[in-house]
Amino acid sequence: MNLKNKVLNELKSTEDFISGQQLADFFGVSRNAVWKTVKSLQNDGYLIESVTNKGYRLLSANDAIDTNIISGFFDDLDEEINIIHKTRVDSTNNMLKKLYFESIPFNTLLIADEQYDGKGRFGRNFYSPSKTGVYFSLLIKPDFHTETPSIITSLTAVAVCDSISMLTSKKPGIKWVNDIYVDKKKVVGILTEGSIDFETNNFEFLIIGIGINISTSDFPKEFRDKAGSLSVNISKSELIGTIISNFYKLYHQFPDKSFMSDYRKYSIMFNKKITYKLNNVTYTGEVVDINDYGNLIVSSGDGISTLTSGEVTIIDF
Ligand code: BTN
Repeated sequence: MNLKNKVLNELKSTEDFISGQQLADFFGVSRNAVWKTVKSLQNDGYLIESVTNKGYRLLSANDAIDTNIISGFFDDLDEEINIIHKTRVDSTNNMLKKLYFESIPFNTLLIADEQYDGKGRFGRNFYSPSKTGVYFSLLIKPDFHTETPSIITSLTAVAVCDSISMLTSKKPGIKWVNDIYVDKKKVVGILTEGSIDFETNNFEFLIIGIGINISTSDFPKEFRDKAGSLSVNISKSELIGTIISNFYKLYHQFPDKSFMSDYRKYSIMFNKKITYKLNNVTYTGEVVDINDYGNLIVSSGDGISTLTSGEVTIIDF
């Protein structure tokens, strides 16, 4: 085996950094030879992070989506999941909505390697470059009534956190409403769109879109302060399969809202000082609870407020 393959195998064997000196000692070569080998692997397209005083770490961007692997995660589910994989789309939410109107079956999962117009909440963009993240949407038709349809997004956030905890050593946390943070950076965004028939209060359809930054580092300026990546070596197919399978398990418990206790467990909001806006006035308060409807309960000089939606800023995050 040549040095390139040996170094690659060594980097693949761990999620941690390996120092240049360790690699050099291990293979009986100079640090310069290791450095040149890493450069050559990077030129081949391997995403290898190089950090002073830590060494090298292989990120998972080279791993391609494999729908056979993903479908293997759905064997235990009652639902038949239809999987579509595309290389590049505007937005998986948009495309799935179009397909819904063309009568694609419910429980279709649409995955894209890249989105050129990924959508976030409040009309924002979701940066979705190829290779370094996963972007997918699920079309469902909930068969229950709820006064708070938005907590399906909270349920999804719990499924994502459970999956990250199962597959990595990272400690995910949920920032209200449903952003997932790791190491104080937002690594996952969730956007749920759908339609409810107001005559009957039944869901017509729901599309849950999830975007995960696995190793993205070149964020555009507007995202740089907040956005980060999981930065782990992980199989994209395993991550998607685990999330969707965990989602369906929690989804079947939806009516009793038992997932909300896990939502609170993952929440990074408790006892935090925050600022929030009500009727265009900015307030400061402290988070005291999150109820089973997903509302944020905030204590301030003016008493207790119940926030139902919107965006809050954590002071001294
Ligand atoms: C947010 O953070 O504001 C929500 C981001 C949601 C991004 C995902 S990526 C897959 C799906 N397709 C989209 O266009 N958006 C969602």
